[in-house]
Amino acid sequence: MHIHRYEKLWLIIGSLILAVFLGILAFQTFFLEMGPPSHAEMIDPQTVRESEIFADTELKEIGDNEYEIAIIAEMFAFQPGDLEIPAGATVHFTLASPDVTHGFKITDTNVNVMVVPGHISKVSHTFDEPGEYLILCNEYCGLGHEFMANTITVK
Ligand code: CUA
Repeated sequence: MHIHRYEKLWLIIGSLILAVFLGILAFQTFFLEMGPPSHAEMIDPQTVRESEIFADTELKEIGDNEYEIAIIAEMFAFQPGDLEIPAGATVHFTLASPDVTHGFKITDTNVNVMVVPGHISKVSHTFDEPGEYLILCNEYCGLGHEFMANTITVK
């Protein structure tokens, strides 16, 4: 079979590029361990409510304008409900679901995580801009999905 030499050249170049990309990916995965964390923190969905982390879903001040809160995303509400946060505060959210997969999206921010039963999801955000932010469930979770919405008031 005759292959034109330009075609041969480009086959070689293409293969080399592929080998370089796969090499970089393998290096990042195995040597730099840059893969996303999986099964980092697990929780039995049936014991979410009784667990130490989620028994108390109050906003807690843990430092200088730094807060943490545990939120349960369940059919069809977020526990606790609406939140008030001082402007400039950094909030560390810890999330879990006792039933099905939910979403946790805060509008006008980069916060957008899936809350998968069995897993604990964590996300942090600094609320620099005062205003009202909507928390939405953006994973279809059943007939009441549309009611899963709360407000964060930053002032
Ligand atoms: Cu929860 Cu949709």
